[in-house]
Amino acid sequence: MPLLEVQDLVKVYPLGESVFGGGGRGEIRAVDGVSLQIDRGEALGIVGESGSGKSTLGRLVLRLIEPTSGEIRFAGEDLRQARGARLRQLRRDMQIIFQDPFGSLNPRMRVLDIVAEPLIIHTTLDARRRAERVNELLRAVGLEESAAGRYPHEFSGGQRQRVGIARALALRPRFIVADEPVSALDVSVGAQIVNLLAQLQRELGLTYLFISHSMPLVRYLATRIAVMHRGKVVEIGPAEQVTSVPVHPYTRALLAATPKMSAGN
Ligand SMILES: Nc1ncnc2c1ncn2[C@@H]1O[C@H](COP(=O)(O)OP(=O)(O)O)[C@@H](O)[C@H]1O
Ligand SMILES: [Mg+2]
Repeated sequence: MPLLEVQDLVKVYPLGESVFGGGGRGEIRAVDGVSLQIDRGEALGIVGESGSGKSTLGRLVLRLIEPTSGEIRFAGEDLRQARGARLRQLRRDMQIIFQDPFGSLNPRMRVLDIVAEPLIIHTTLDARRRAERVNELLRAVGLEESAAGRYPHEFSGGQRQRVGIARALALRPRFIVADEPVSALDVSVGAQIVNLLAQLQRELGLTYLFISHSMPLVRYLATRIAVMHRGKVVEIGPAEQVTSVPVHPYTRALLAATPKMSAGN
């Protein structure tokens, strides 16, 4: 059984009054009939240009937004039916890493409190045990324990993203949506973060939905790649196949637009 299974997923946004006047209403099919599966321990890459529906798909599978129609199953369970305590339990299992490590961290909170927050909300650990767990998480993402007492602005972009990853890992999730996690970072810093994600995947048996507009980045982390275009998955397959013998013209155009990148860079 796949860990995550999505069937005919649709998210339609209504357009408001036209800014050009004349009440022209329409809709945006941000995600338009997407079906895919992600196996346990796998990293599925979602690649596509800006506006293709990648973030909407990521938010739908985490149930941060409600689908217009379609099915989402997590470990065989219908996510759309989950309510109350069960939904909270499932939310512990599924976490997100955001693009902007600055915007997603509260500037007034120390790293200790940022990383411990999910533990306060979802567990009964006391302050000492929480601090121990935070230290363990900071080490796991390659930060010094002394980082706990500092504030987000004291860190570089890459270090802030490490803090965001530590927070996402706090509740020992099985599944992580990483939505453009390195696109705000310099290439070399971004590569270090992608390496960290790969290492954490091996060590913790994580399953990823890894979203990026960059084919080389997706290629580096993902075992399979889904190419999105205007809300639809136009091509999906093993990463090697999608990048070396692309079938869809849009995939070929994406590949032609990106420079070659060797693994590890
Ligand atoms: N909350 C929203 N309300 C209206 N339109 C939205 C909303 N979120 C996304 N969209 C639209 O849906 C489409 C897909 O957006 P998004 O999922 O953010 O794409 P991507 O992450 O690939 O750049 C875009 O046309 C975007 O403008
Ligand atoms: Mg996006």
